Amino acid sequence: MKEKFESFLKANQIQAKSYHPYYEEALNYMLLSGGKHFRAQLLLGVVETLNPSRIDSALRVALGVEMIHTYSLIHDDLPVMDDSDLRRGVLTTHKKFDEVTALLVGDALNSRAFYEISRANLEPKVAIKCVEILSFAATQMVLGQALDCYFEKKTLSYEELKILHSHKTGALISASFELGAVISGVKDSLKFKEVGLKLGLLFQIVDDIIDVTMTKDEAGKPTHHDEDKNSFVNLLGLKGAQDERDKLISEIKIDDKKVQNLLDNLIEKYLKG
Ligand code: IPE
Ligand code: IPE
Ligand code: MG
Ligand code: MG
Ligand code: MG
Repeated sequence: MKEKFESFLKANQIQAKSYHPYYEEALNYMLLSGGKHFRAQLLLGVVETLNPSRIDSALRVALGVEMIHTYSLIHDDLPVMDDSDLRRGVLTTHKKFDEVTALLVGDALNSRAFYEISRANLEPKVAIKCVEILSFAATQMVLGQALDCYFEKKTLSYEELKILHSHKTGALISASFELGAVISGVKDSLKFKEVGLKLGLLFQIVDDIIDVTMTKDEAGKPTHHDEDKNSFVNLLGLKGAQDERDKLISEIKIDDKKVQNLLDNLIEKYLKG
C-alpha cells in the first residue's frame, strides 16, 4: 500500500502554473520529499482490509490527509515555531525557498486537502463525513501546536501534556484511522476514533524519544531540539517515556483480527525502536 500511495502522490502533483519563478515547485517540494506516509498507510490499510473496492477513492482522501500533515510540518519548521532547517532529509521549505513562500504553500496545502476529497468519487454523505472528520482534526492539531508553542519553557503536568500531544498529533492520526473505517462503510466508527487517538498519542511519545535517541541523519530532521519543549522525555525521563510507550502499545486493541494485524505491523515498523 505504501508503494501504491507513493506512485499516486507522484502522479498527482499540484499544478499551479504562473509567472512566479518557483511557487509551483515549492508547493510540491515537501510533499514529494518522502516521509513515512504513516497516516496514509493507516487509512489505506483499513480500506484494503475492510473494503478494497473503495481503494481508489481512499487514495485521494489519503492524499488530502498527507497534505494537511505536510502543511503542518512546513509551518512547524518556520523560525517563529521550531526553527528547523532539515525535514525528511532535505532542507525545510523556508530554507530551500523563503519564509513567505513556506507560509503560503502551507496555506495552499491546507485548502487543497479538501479539494482532493471533493474529487474522491465518494457518495456525497461519505464525502461530507470525511470533510467533517479531517477539518475537525486539523483544527485540533492547530490547538495542539498553539499549546506547544505557548507553553515552551513552562512545565506542564502529565495530564496537560497528554492533552497537548493528543491534539497536535493524536487528532490527525485518529482521523486517518477513522476515515479508513468511514470510507469502508463501517457504520459505527467511534471505536476507530478512540483507538486511533491512543495510536496518535503513542506516535508523539515515540517522536519525543526520537529527539533524544537519534542523530540528525537518522531522523532526517534536527534532533536534540526539544530542550525547551514539553516532551514526554523532558517530563518523565527517557526510561519513563519508553515505559509509557510500551504501556500504550499494550493498550492498542481493536476487535477485528485483520485490523489489529494492520496496527501491529505499523507499530512494529515505526513505533517500537
Ligand atoms: C512528524 O511526523 C511530526 C509529528 C507529528 C510527530 P512524521 O514522523 O509522520 O513525519 P513524516 O511524515 O514521516 O516526515
Ligand atoms: C509537530 O511536532 C507536530 C505537528 C503537528 C506538526 P514536533 O515539532 O515534535 O514534530 P517534529 O519533531 O518537528 O517532526
Ligand atoms: Mg513542533
Ligand atoms: Mg518540530
Ligand atoms: Mg518532535
